[in-house]
Amino acid sequence: MSITALVNQKGGVGKTTVTLGLAAAYAARGRRVLVVDLDPQANATTGLGVYEVIQAIDTALLSDASGSISGVIQRAGWSHPEFATPVDVAPSSPQLAKCEPQLATDMIGAQDRLAVALQGVADRYDDVLIDCAPSLGLLTVNALFAADRVLIVAEPAAWSSDGVDQILLNVNRISERRSGRPQVAGIVINRLGRTRDANHWYGVLSEAHPGLVLDPPVRLRAAVTEAAAMSEPVGALTRDGAAQAAAEFTALSLVLDPEDLVPTDIASSWAQAATAATPGEI
Ligand SMILES: Nc1ncnc2c1ncn2[C@@H]1O[C@H](COP(=O)(O)OP(=O)(O)OP(=O)(O)O)[C@@H](O)[C@H]1O
Ligand SMILES: [Mg+2]
Repeated sequence: MSITALVNQKGGVGKTTVTLGLAAAYAARGRRVLVVDLDPQANATTGLGVYEVIQAIDTALLSDASGSISGVIQRAGWSHPEFATPVDVAPSSPQLAKCEPQLATDMIGAQDRLAVALQGVADRYDDVLIDCAPSLGLLTVNALFAADRVLIVAEPAAWSSDGVDQILLNVNRISERRSGRPQVAGIVINRLGRTRDANHWYGVLSEAHPGLVLDPPVRLRAAVTEAAAMSEPVGALTRDGAAQAAAEFTALSLVLDPEDLVPTDIASSWAQAATAATPGEI
């Protein structure tokens, strides 16, 4: 079991998209996945096809009880036939925004409410993916206190590298207090288009953070936007680019968790499909 927080204080870089892409890739491989939506915008919740939230994550965080997240978990609306296991979600709601200042008044447990809520529940899953809000506020700090590892999602654009540096500083400060956790799993470059500009900034990020930028990047594709609008995993779409996008997420999931049960020949064909895929047709 591993708990991964997907972070970037910058908005709109693809944290939710990569969370959902990885969730689908893991589920297709038979892994039990829990998506924790820690963003009051609730994009991961709706992206997973959950429109009626029974109880949202703020209830679990405010209760300050061990394992309280189990009381809010719902089954995702995705019913992709290729999924070997269903995806679960701890949904969010706009109420979560009010929760942050409330947590801040707790002198003792402001930072580890999510860790406490996940106690004894995270073990029921192979992968817990925490989709963070675009800020380095208390909710994201809670994600970093709960996580084993951090995945930074970044765009190939100006100032991206500065933002990544800021996150790395925060992650280091927390991991120094938590005996080396969370570790930095890497930087996913999302929305890589075919422009010279995008490739330039991709190169800048790779040079600035040697060994941290993961391969493959996630390409800019209309299929990815459409899947989000339809609340479906991108692999469920039949349009151009959908299969390639799904293959990229699969390859990324294999880079993150290479020790999986997938037979090597299948794994390498997925990785090849992603590498061979032509960049976006947007
Ligand atoms: N690889 C991609 N190709 C095409 N569109 C993409 C890609 N990645 C993300 N998008 C689109 O970009 C928009 C922002 O993506 P997303 O919501 O995942 O970002 P985010 O970092 O979670 O945003 P926020 O900070 O607001 O939570 C969405 O409309 C999404 O569909
Ligand atoms: Mg998001």
